[in-house]
Amino acid sequence: MSETARNLSLEEMDRNSVIHPYTTLGDAERAPPTIIKSGKGIYVTFANGETLIDAMSSMNCVNVGYGRSEIADAISKQAHELAYYHSFLGVTNEPEVRLADRLLNGLLPENMSKIMFASSGSEVVDAALKFIWMYNYLRGKPEKTKIISREDAYHGVTLGAGSLAGNDVMCKGFNLPLPGFFRTEGPHHYRKARPGESERDYSKRCARMLEELILAEGPETVAAFVCEPALGAGCAVMPPEGYFDEIVKVLRKHDVLFFDDECITGFGRTGNWFASETFGFEPDIMTLSKGITSAYIPLSATVISEKIWRVLKDGIPSEEVPLFASGSTASGHPIACAAANANIDVMENEDLIGNSARVGAHFKKRLEELIGDHPLIGEIRGEGLMIGLELVADRETKEELDPEWDCAHRLVALCREDKLITRAFFGTSSMSFGPPLVMTEEEADDVTARVARALGRLTDELISTGRWKPRH
Ligand SMILES: Cc1ncc(COP(=O)(O)O)c(C=O)c1O
Repeated sequence: MSETARNLSLEEMDRNSVIHPYTTLGDAERAPPTIIKSGKGIYVTFANGETLIDAMSSMNCVNVGYGRSEIADAISKQAHELAYYHSFLGVTNEPEVRLADRLLNGLLPENMSKIMFASSGSEVVDAALKFIWMYNYLRGKPEKTKIISREDAYHGVTLGAGSLAGNDVMCKGFNLPLPGFFRTEGPHHYRKARPGESERDYSKRCARMLEELILAEGPETVAAFVCEPALGAGCAVMPPEGYFDEIVKVLRKHDVLFFDDECITGFGRTGNWFASETFGFEPDIMTLSKGITSAYIPLSATVISEKIWRVLKDGIPSEEVPLFASGSTASGHPIACAAANANIDVMENEDLIGNSARVGAHFKKRLEELIGDHPLIGEIRGEGLMIGLELVADRETKEELDPEWDCAHRLVALCREDKLITRAFFGTSSMSFGPPLVMTEEEADDVTARVARALGRLTDELISTGRWKPRH
C-alpha cells in the first residue's frame, strides 16, 4: 500500500524512510523534521508557513538567492532541448563548453587550463587527488603521493575527501583517514597564536610547522597541500596576514602542489570571484561546487593548471596509462551547466561579487558596532559575505566558554527563534554567516539586530543560571 493510502503525514513518512546526513540517527524518532517549502531572495518558508532569513544560503550555496526564474527557465529550456547526454569519449554539449570557456577566460586564475565537471564537492575533491597522483606518476615520481590537509578542514565525505577531514569525528568508525593523509595546523590566529605573536609571525610559524611535517615524511613522498582559503566548517576563519606567501614558499621549495578547495569560497563568497584573488595566491589545482549553480542543481568541477595539464597531456596515452580513466555519468551534465551559465549571468548582470564585498563590509561593521564590545564576543571576522563570530568567557584572557554548555549552538537556536538561520559547527564556539550575495545593507541591519537580540537572551540565560557573569 502507498504511503498516501496509509494516510501518513510527510513528517511520518520522513521518519520512517529517510536517513538525514550528519545526524545522530535516532534523532529522527524524536524530533519532527522541518519541511522546507519555498524561498525568495534571502528568505525561506517552511511548510508550516513560517518565514525566516537564511543567513547561511542553506550551506553557503544559494549565492544568487532563492526563487531566481532566470535559472529555473534555463533549466527548463535545456531539459526540453537536451536533458542529458554523457560527456565521455569526446562527446560534449554547448552549455558545458560555454561554461568551461567563460570560467577559464576571465573568472578563474590565469594559470588554470582545463576543467572536468562532476556533481558534488566531495567527488571533485577525489578527482583532484587522482589528477595530483597521476601528475606525479607520469613525472616518474610514483612514491610522491602523501597529502597534507589542515586541522578543522572540511572537504567532503567520499573516501579521499573524508581522509582530508580536519576533525576525527568525520573519520571514526569509517576506517579513515586512508594511509598517506596527514594534518598540519589550521591557522586560527585568534585562538592559536602565542600571546603577543603577530599575524605575520604566526603565519611564518604555520609555514615552519608545514615544512617540518614535509621534512619528517620526506619531501619525495609528499604530493600536495590542500586547504579551503578560509575555513568554512571552522566558522569563517580567515588566513592570518601573509599566510599564503609563507605557505607557498614552502610548497614550491619542496615541489608540493597547492590544492585550493573553493567549494565554499568560490563564486563571490569572499568578495571576489575566487578567494585566491582575495588572499593573493596562485594554486596548482582547484575544486568548485555550491555557488557554481547557486545549488539550483548539483554541479562541481576540478580545475587544473597548465603545469599539471602539460604533464598529463604529454604522458597519456602510454603503454602503462592508456587513458585518464576517471569521470562520472553526470560529468558535464547539460542541465547543470545551463544552470551554471544562467547563474553566472545573474552574478555578472547584478554585480553580486561587488555586492558581496560592499554588503559584507557593511554587515561586519554593523556587527562590530552593535555587539563588538559585548563581553561574550571575542572576535568578529570575515571577508565578503563569509563572516564568523567567536564566543568567549573572557575577552581579555580569551578563556573559552565551557564546551558542555555548547553556547554557539544555543545562540543559533535563539537566532532561529527570532526567525534567523545561522550556523555553528561541532567542536567550535563560533557562529557563522554566509547569506545569499543579493543581501542588501538594510537586510544586513535586520540580521544584525536579530543576532544582537539573541546574544542578549543568551547572556541573560547564562547569568540567570549562574554559569557565567561579565568579567570586564
Ligand atoms: C570546502 C568544501 N569542500 C568540499 C565539500 C564537499 O561538498 P559536497 O557536500 O557537495 O560533497 C564541502 C561541503 O561543504 C566544502 O565546504
